[in-house]
Amino acid sequence: MSEKILVCVAWPYANGDLHVGHLAGAYLPADIFARYHRLAGNDVLMVSGSDSHGTPITIYADREGITPREVFEYYHDRFLETQQRIGISYDLFTHTDTENHYRVAQDIFLRLLERGYMYRHVQRQLYSEKEGRFLPDRYVEGTCPHCGYTEARGDQCDNCGVLLDALELIDPRSKIDGSTPVVRETEHFFLDLGALQDKLAAYLAEGKDHWRPNVLNFARNYVAAGLHGRPITRDIEWGIPVPLEGFRDKRLYVWFEAVIGYLSASIEWAHNVGRPEAWKEWWYDPAARTYYFIGKDNIPFHAVIWPAELIGVERLYEEDTSRRLNLPYDVPANEFMNIEGQQFSKSRGLAVWLPDYLDHFAPDPLRYYVASVMPETRDTDFGWAEFVRRNNDELVAAWGNLCHRVLTFAYRHFEGRVPVPGLMDRADVGLLARIDVAFGPIGRLLSTCKFRAALNEVMALTREVNKYLDEKGPWFQIKEDRAAARTTVYVALRAIDSLKVLFAPFLPFSSEALHRHLGYEGAIFGRQYVATFEEEGRSHKALRYDGSDATGRWAPSELPAGQRLQRPRPLFQKLDPAAVEEGLL
Ligand code: MF3
Ligand code: ZN
Repeated sequence: MSEKILVCVAWPYANGDLHVGHLAGAYLPADIFARYHRLAGNDVLMVSGSDSHGTPITIYADREGITPREVFEYYHDRFLETQQRIGISYDLFTHTDTENHYRVAQDIFLRLLERGYMYRHVQRQLYSEKEGRFLPDRYVEGTCPHCGYTEARGDQCDNCGVLLDALELIDPRSKIDGSTPVVRETEHFFLDLGALQDKLAAYLAEGKDHWRPNVLNFARNYVAAGLHGRPITRDIEWGIPVPLEGFRDKRLYVWFEAVIGYLSASIEWAHNVGRPEAWKEWWYDPAARTYYFIGKDNIPFHAVIWPAELIGVERLYEEDTSRRLNLPYDVPANEFMNIEGQQFSKSRGLAVWLPDYLDHFAPDPLRYYVASVMPETRDTDFGWAEFVRRNNDELVAAWGNLCHRVLTFAYRHFEGRVPVPGLMDRADVGLLARIDVAFGPIGRLLSTCKFRAALNEVMALTREVNKYLDEKGPWFQIKEDRAAARTTVYVALRAIDSLKVLFAPFLPFSSEALHRHLGYEGAIFGRQYVATFEEEGRSHKALRYDGSDATGRWAPSELPAGQRLQRPRPLFQKLDPAAVEEGLL
């Protein structure tokens, strides 16, 4: 029976290009996972979008002298293009500045209020007398009261990860002009996390054996330390208005509403496909499983705050009777990927920008390298020299050459068709059996988010096929025993046809190419495209995925003898280490 799998992917702030950290932290694992589940015949809904609000956007707009809308629309367009090029197969990648998202976020706000999980409180806040306005948390820097880090932001300390209130900072200073802010009073809405504490603790206590230990420990400790109300409105102009008389000039806090994007994007998707109720299959059916692919800095919001909002609202609308919104089934947060041994840093040029990368190289080599060093359990490192080595020694030498050797040989000696095998010996049968049974365990690794281990297994099988081919030597067989050569080539083609599927979640572009070389019609996966919608007089662009024509299946090859092959072309290119350094460093 097919399962409902919701794949939620962290929403990037639309204030800068996407880089390899985004890819390694969230997008690539999410995409591998989604593609695997689609091949396995499950119903996948994968959603995300641009995080268009919040101070990361307004700080940028202030600096550049343009509007926040101009900032987010510029980067949103680039996100669509970049993610299509690197092959992140969102069913919908939208943004948070849509009418739909406003409505869902405001409805959730009102429902939390109505159900008593929100309260009003006069708050003391940092105010800039120089600027004549309240300073959002992110506009303030100072010393972390927990670890003493002097560059802590007003909302979170990047050194120890703790969430902060700007008032807690020691020696606060304005990020705009360095001046020292004063404290003023203002009334805000607070999410009553204290009232949700017991339910959150119960949620985190049960059935979490499949969670990564660091994520689970972080969330449990966070809740156990005692939860307090958190303000979820702000005195700013850019964002979603508070839907209440007397408060309409205040805005919903960006984190409060961005996480709601997972739900609103699912609703938007359902509308787009003409089945407006379809989102409920992932959000209300308790058998559906919901996964949140994020970087470790986002753990508190996804493992605590978002579940709190979901528990608090219980259901989106009263008429969704007697059902509860699904809480995260898993939050497989990744650690960080450093660059050449140092922490990612825009200002010091320590970043691998995806648009730049894609101007020079194909997407799959990066997907391969990043998947093979994915920071699943600890921080890992991206190095250009290592990228080249992995491409040349593994992707090209082991996988690409295997395909090329077998396909050119078959094309040349068997009239461009899959040969009819003769009698198989133990080596032939053994190889195919090894690959056939591997679909089970590799599928289990993928469905439990152990992507590196899964890729290792596929690579190990690839090496076995190479070994088989070397031992059989069809280029000698063809001279003495044509039937034996036919068998060897048939077995090898079947093997690479299976490996094509096993590699497909990781290397979708080259698996599609190989699929065509092997003579198949149609595509393994669906089609990705940028769609434009008209909404309330404003056009809105999104990335979509249409899987209706996809033919791929998570199953061993059934390659028919006699199938016409296409003239093969190399799947990958060897890279020159010098060129890589010149081109990108
Ligand atoms: N924009 C945030 C960041 O880049 C992530 C938001 S994830 C969301 O860190 F779900 F909350 F939107
Ligand atoms: Zn700290």
